[in-house]
Amino acid sequence: VQTLTVLGLESSCDDTAAAVVRQGEGVQAEILSSVVHGQTELHSAYGGVVPEIAARAHAEKLDICVKQALTQADVAFGELDVIAVTAGPGLIGGVMSGVMCAKGLSAATGLPLIGVNHLAGHALTPRLTDGIAFPYLMLLVSGGHCQYLIAHGPEQFTRLGGTIDDAPGEAFDKTARLLGLPQPGGPSVEAEARAGDSKRFRFPRPLLDRPGCDLSFSGLKTALMRLRDQIVSEKGGLTRQDRADLCAGFQQAIVDTLAEKTRRAIVQYLETSPSVPVIAVAGGVAANTAIRAALETVCAQMEARFTAPPLALCTDNAAMIAFAGLERFRLGARDGLDLTARPRWPL
Ligand code: KG4
Ligand code: ZN
Repeated sequence: VQTLTVLGLESSCDDTAAAVVRQGEGVQAEILSSVVHGQTELHSAYGGVVPEIAARAHAEKLDICVKQALTQADVAFGELDVIAVTAGPGLIGGVMSGVMCAKGLSAATGLPLIGVNHLAGHALTPRLTDGIAFPYLMLLVSGGHCQYLIAHGPEQFTRLGGTIDDAPGEAFDKTARLLGLPQPGGPSVEAEARAGDSKRFRFPRPLLDRPGCDLSFSGLKTALMRLRDQIVSEKGGLTRQDRADLCAGFQQAIVDTLAEKTRRAIVQYLETSPSVPVIAVAGGVAANTAIRAALETVCAQMEARFTAPPLALCTDNAAMIAFAGLERFRLGARDGLDLTARPRWPL
């Protein structure tokens, strides 16, 4: 084991990011820099991420991010040991921009190249931020993903279940759109829900009647649309209170579903691993206070430890990619200039 300094690149969705992470012998890794250029304004007029616009913006911003990350870390190319890049899953144009940039840097510097699975980046973040040991249970909840994983090692994950349709963040975003609230939907729906009565409207609790950890969120959007249309046809429009009550009912359905599925995931985890379970969350939806509180309650009831990385490391960033690359490199993984972008790449 030696001290390793890794440059990471991320461009799989709508954030262009570069970061430098260093890890000495037997100690926790240190984030020397983490630069993220978001693209929210570029896509806001379209109500969602436009792949072609995203790819162009990544291609424009990647080298700027790399320069900033190296400057902020005060690290020169000559001091790096590895270049790590998200090689999937994600929007193909964006992933290709990142992979080509990393290949160019690797060819020019002679540094080894490592392709990283974006989901592994999220799933390994609790090790970067809290030094958590394997195995642990992971709940990944973002705008694009929702799954329960057991992390056994840097390249070894067991998937316990996940969404069979929308991701929860996507459901929050669609709800906001249906109610005329600003994007991203998560924070605006959460803010509205604070003033709402979650019991006024009935929302389904999908898949709770079926065993296992699979989830489904697309039915919530349909339920919300029906309730909204019903109010509008009866009263001619939505009042502030109607909107708040709809948001509160919708959010409570997600909270209840995630709490129950997390309870089941802990039970499944305990069947294979007798150690005290550690539950880690990552993804933008982990920012939701009600969801966090519900997960903490479940963990307390089940005598599990709950941990959530700081928000900036829950959402997309390159520090997690650099760190995942570092962990893979220590295991002996190497990729060559034939590394390809994989838009679909299950863990
Ligand atoms: O992880 P992330 O930044 O990007 C990916 O999806 O990869 O997650 C963004 C998602 C968006 O759908 C956003 O609405 C949701 O996370 N989100 C929230 C909250 N803050 C962000 N959802 C619920 N409550 C929040 N407070
Ligand atoms: Zn992500």
